[in-house]
Amino acid sequence: EEPDAALAVPQAGDPQLKLLSRIGVADPGSLDSYRANGGYRALRRAFALGPAGVLREVTDSGLVGRGGAAFPTGRKWQATASQPDHPHYVVCNADESEPGTFKDRVLMEGDPFALIESMTIAGYATGAHKGFLYLRGEYPRALRRLTDAIAQARARGLLGDDVLGQGYAFDIEIRRGAGAYICGEETALFNSLEGNRGEPRSKPPFPVEKGLFGKPTAANNVETLVNVLPVLEMGAEAYAAIGTGKSTGPKLFCVAGSVERPGIYELPFGATLGDLLNLAGVTGDLRAVLLGGAAGGFVRGDELDIPLTFEGTREAGTTLGSGVVLALDSSVPLPRILLRIAEFFRDESCGQCVPCRIGTVRQEEALHRLAARVGAPSTNGSNATAGTAEDIALLREVGEAMRDASICGLGQTAWNAVESAIDRLGAYA
Ligand code: NAI
Ligand code: SF4
Repeated sequence: EEPDAALAVPQAGDPQLKLLSRIGVADPGSLDSYRANGGYRALRRAFALGPAGVLREVTDSGLVGRGGAAFPTGRKWQATASQPDHPHYVVCNADESEPGTFKDRVLMEGDPFALIESMTIAGYATGAHKGFLYLRGEYPRALRRLTDAIAQARARGLLGDDVLGQGYAFDIEIRRGAGAYICGEETALFNSLEGNRGEPRSKPPFPVEKGLFGKPTAANNVETLVNVLPVLEMGAEAYAAIGTGKSTGPKLFCVAGSVERPGIYELPFGATLGDLLNLAGVTGDLRAVLLGGAAGGFVRGDELDIPLTFEGTREAGTTLGSGVVLALDSSVPLPRILLRIAEFFRDESCGQCVPCRIGTVRQEEALHRLAARVGAPSTNGSNATAGTAEDIALLREVGEAMRDASICGLGQTAWNAVESAIDRLGAYA
């Protein structure tokens, strides 16, 4: 078996941690160990509060989605709960596939009962009795641990017809993805769960109204759900005091690349990029950092005072996305990285709409030509040849078309990283 995910948590065992507190401390295979380390306190509080009380706490906490888009979780849950159409569903989006993102994997492998408990709370608050956990197919250890944890929870009355003897019925079914990035897009994920092709649907209608099987659905990322536990344990006010006014609570960051200690870090929102990279220990001469993964953007290695919040990264003209922080030192061949990102989007485009199906191909072709020219003798004395300028102009045109006219986030973001590398890092200049 591959090395334990807990090894990817350099802060394991730190008593300040809220989301990673049990990782490397509790036995992920034991419900008793989970309970001995605070497990199922939040669900008990949820039953004491009632569904409306849970919705109020989650709303007041300011919790926003951690999959990348930062939509207010309380609003999503309230909207689902209030729909007259039934049944309601809870879907956990565990199809973590953004390049450089591995936080949900660590949570699911290291603390599987936490996800089961938080999905149960989500179901209770939104009036759902069934939860689907759509798990990335390439996470076999998470599958084993979650399957085992669900079986233990059922055997002990923590899932099933009468959860904790409170008269509330809830159960969870795991479904595995089959390797398509697009199936992490929530409406493609619903199609996949329904047995159809994993192609995104147009929004609106939003899933809160018409989601899985056309029914009201609260779809949340793993890290978002797990945050509900500290919200209920601490209370909304104490939780909202962590972080900043607009980005509340703790956040997981996936740090990789040119660092001494790659892994998952938990910091309150508002810490700077420099604070985080100091913890991870940058190796070499930092040229750039990719924030938010392939769908995100590059910043320069000297922009370390960017606050790691949704609003702070937006003000700095970049994105926090799913929490990817990929450090690149000056030895890293940038054109090769950009080409790899473009190949990825071309490969993963579902092909349903023209701007993305064609645009991702044209983008890759232009980047191939640009990469081939890097280091080639220039014709006019500068580094950039006429062909370079033309290709960059073409990339901009194609990129804008993808951003404006694509159906889903894949096509809309497929040009972000390349654009930021050109504008912010001066790639190909
Ligand atoms: P989105 O902004 O369309 O939606 C975000 C969430 O809010 C969705 O659940 C949506 O249903 C809900 N929502 C939005 N407006 C609503 C309204 N008026 N009423 C009710 N619900 C509403 O963003 P999307 O396309 O779902 O996600 C894009 C993000 O996903 C990007 O930021 C990207 O970073 C991230 N991403 C993360 C990956 C990962 O592996 N974690 C992989 C790929 C992308
Ligand atoms: Fe498919 Fe791309 Fe269109 Fe999204 S933007 S629906 S991935 S073709």
